[in-house]
Amino acid sequence: MVIEKICCLGAGYVGGPTCSVIAWKCPDIKVTVCDKSIERINQWNSDKLPIYEPGLDEVVKECRGKNLFFSTDIANSIQEADLIFISVNTPTKTIGNGKGRAADLKYIEGAARMIADLATSNKIVVEKSTVPVKAAEIIMKILRANTKPGVEYQILSNPEFLAEGTAIVDLVESERVLIGGEDTPEGQKAVQALCWVYEHWIPAKNILTTNTWSSELSKLAANAFLAQRISSINSLSAVCEATGADVSEVARAVGRDSRIGPKFLEASIGFGGSCFQKDILNLIYLSECLNLPEVAAYWQQVVSFNDYQKNRFTRKVIESLFNTVSDKKIAILGFSFKKNTGDTRESPAICVSKTLLDEGAKLHIYDPKVETDQIYYELTHPQVTNEPEVARKNIEIHSSAYSAVTGAHAIVLCTEWDEFKELDFKKIYNVMMKPAYIFDGRKILDHEALINIGFHVQTIGKRLSRTSSIRAQGSQTLP
Ligand code: NAD
Ligand code: UDX
Repeated sequence: MVIEKICCLGAGYVGGPTCSVIAWKCPDIKVTVCDKSIERINQWNSDKLPIYEPGLDEVVKECRGKNLFFSTDIANSIQEADLIFISVNTPTKTIGNGKGRAADLKYIEGAARMIADLATSNKIVVEKSTVPVKAAEIIMKILRANTKPGVEYQILSNPEFLAEGTAIVDLVESERVLIGGEDTPEGQKAVQALCWVYEHWIPAKNILTTNTWSSELSKLAANAFLAQRISSINSLSAVCEATGADVSEVARAVGRDSRIGPKFLEASIGFGGSCFQKDILNLIYLSECLNLPEVAAYWQQVVSFNDYQKNRFTRKVIESLFNTVSDKKIAILGFSFKKNTGDTRESPAICVSKTLLDEGAKLHIYDPKVETDQIYYELTHPQVTNEPEVARKNIEIHSSAYSAVTGAHAIVLCTEWDEFKELDFKKIYNVMMKPAYIFDGRKILDHEALINIGFHVQTIGKRLSRTSSIRAQGSQTLP
């Protein structure tokens, strides 16, 4: 089976970049990315794309209007496609059964119903969204119950492993592409058709094929493992702060063991992003439904520890500032959940900022890529506060780090943007209130240089000499 036309439902952080790269690498395939949001499609068709991702603009510019299209004409795109990616959002349920843990599959179901309604020829339907195990069965049930005479479907699972901020490189140089399908001749034919698409640029040895359920579970498992590493190193960061060990040195030593490896051992103020927490909660709910409470409890700890780490850092900020931040000006540097993205979903900066606001601080926030409205939204929407006007009054958004820090009692660095390493901290020290504090939640600054300038510095996983000297002296030995 040859794929000539691809349709993608969902023009978000996954659908947009993934399909742009497919179009770029497969000039013989017409790729149409659809969304039910007219605004999002208009942005994809404009000069300012809806998401910031290094290298994405160039790829879109090269292919858009040739073999890459962004469209709200979902009906036509579904009808003409041989293969349809479902790349819609699968957020955690906020109401009803499984609230706070289960994945809400309403958008997946909506996409399946659209396909069933509109398709008039055979389709390969590919689950690209992250879903609980057996979600493909739900899609199949909906399609088969509503199918038109003569129309047949194959459902594949093809989870996406890109990370934001490096999406284009991750897609172009994928370590692995995972494709799960039914173990029937038709199922395997569909698997081969999707393999053929990827083989335009991915070496065949990097394309793994499995059964559908293994593929679905592998995606949840991969994210759970990655997040678990971060919670593990973060737990040791607390031990380091209490003992005088340095978490970066520990990570370097531990990561040298080739069985462990050096990646994803960067201690931080906690992991953020739209995937880790959501996908682990999804795994926890699945385990509970399968009557495996011990499995659920194991993974729950990874998420609970992440909350502890975010709160631990914020508590440290408040305690260091004489246990009160009321009416103090605090500069928040970085608001996205990691560098090189404007995405704020589950960003640790939200938790830090919200706690400081609740304690009466005046926040002066700067992020190189997050839109002003997005920051206000994250800190004032009804689930965060029932006093949005008060919060709004205490937040000011800045267009440069220098303007955010002027007159500040403290700097709280929440995102590891490279430009923060280049700031002139002598100049910054001169315009701040004294004593001047820096809390480096990402361990990216030159702490010794900052201490020499006169700053009081605290970071993650390392005790620095000019800070908390009394507490430090009191905890020289392990309890
Ligand atoms: P997103 O919210 O950025 O985009 C989803 C888009 O789907 C939205 O624009 C929404 O309007 C659209 N949509 C919903 N229902 C639709 C329908 N029936 N027809 C057309 N469009 C529809 O989400 P995302 O970050 O792109 O994530 C999508 C999926 O991929 C999720 O399951 C997520 O877990 C998974 N994933 C995300 C990442 C990531 O880095 N963001 C990485 C790997 C996997
Ligand atoms: C993650 C997975 O990496 C990716 O494979 C999957 O497809 C989607 O989820 P993403 O959330 O975009 O990607 O970014 P990632 O680089 O994994 O970072 C997630 C969070 O963990 C960020 O807040 C980051 O700052 C934090 N992190 C990452 C650490 O705190 N320490 C680390 O060592 C690595």
